[in-house]
Amino acid sequence: MIARLSPYPLKRLRTSIVGQRRQISSCPSLPQLHGKIAVVTGANDGIGKETARGLLERGAEVIMLCRNIDKAEQARRGFLAEGLNARAVCLIECDLADLDSVKAAAQAVNYHLRGRKIDVLVENAGVWARHYDETEQGHEINFGTNVLGHFALRRELMNGSLARRARIIILTGDIYIMAEGCSPSYHWHSRLGAMRAYNRSKLGNFWIARELQRRHPDLNVFAVHPGVVASGLGGGGKFAAWLKQALLITPQDGAQTTLMCASQEDLTHGSYYHNVHGECELDNADPATNDEAAARLWARCMEMTANMGRPVAIRLAS
Ligand SMILES: NC(=O)c1ccc[n+]([C@@H]2O[C@H](COP(=O)([O-])OP(=O)(O)OC[C@H]3O[C@@H](n4cnc5c(N)ncnc54)[C@H](OP(=O)(O)O)[C@@H]3O)[C@@H](O)[C@H]2O)c1
Repeated sequence: MIARLSPYPLKRLRTSIVGQRRQISSCPSLPQLHGKIAVVTGANDGIGKETARGLLERGAEVIMLCRNIDKAEQARRGFLAEGLNARAVCLIECDLADLDSVKAAAQAVNYHLRGRKIDVLVENAGVWARHYDETEQGHEINFGTNVLGHFALRRELMNGSLARRARIIILTGDIYIMAEGCSPSYHWHSRLGAMRAYNRSKLGNFWIARELQRRHPDLNVFAVHPGVVASGLGGGGKFAAWLKQALLITPQDGAQTTLMCASQEDLTHGSYYHNVHGECELDNADPATNDEAAARLWARCMEMTANMGRPVAIRLAS
């Protein structure tokens, strides 16, 4: 059944949070993914780490693209200790806030695969910055990391090892409903501004997902809301961590919608999948359906990634 989502922010966010702990559905362990290759960004922590674990449990080979490679190595050791096949894991350094690093990472992926193709790309990494910051190339940090970094990565992989019918899973978040626009230059200072900048980037993720599907109908693109998850996103102190754990779902539960989109048959490509509502239909008043704005954002991202810098040194551990 397809759920029709309200375009009204408060109603929408209430239904996302209230009751989500009672409605957690687990991704079935079948079909298995032996022989499949998956790339996951931000796979060293939070939902991304649980996604990598779930893919490994199903037999996939997983390439973890991570900014912090030491933390990624710890995650890999953890998988090994759990009896998972750590030889099926490749770690590649990738800082999405630096287009040079992204380019080097994409080249390292292509080199590592030597002609084999990526079946699943999970654009998971995300930042919710507490203070205004910019990427290496001078773009607002939430936009530059969440939207542009992934755009550049995908663009490079599409010219290399991405399979023509790959599944591409783009993590947005229902909170995008609070945003009206998404653009590279957005100056903010307060905590409210920080939240707005993050929301805008999640709307940007959604727009890019829709435009990607429109331009490449052979691909299987899914925009995903993972749930409201007790992860490190947005930072916060001990009290915030305690509150999140008391009220929100675990990263493992937050990975289930991504895992479903990565593994299950009979999904509708180009759709929005939500941890509480499943496959969703959007109202015309929903900002995600603004396809003209999506096309404009796509064009801007194409311009901004047209002359990506020379590769920098990378650390590749197979
Ligand atoms: N948590 C929620 O309630 C929620 C709700 C809706 C959507 N989402 C989305 O779900 C995704 C995963 O979030 P999460 O909750 O798992 O957050 P998280 O625990 O904070 O994990 C974020 C991941 O992204 C990585 N990352 C951040 N900046 C990066 C950069 N510049 N380059 C490469 N990797 C970078 C982090 O790596 P480091 O370890 O190096 O920092 C980490 O692995 C995000 O896209 C988020 O927007 C989350």
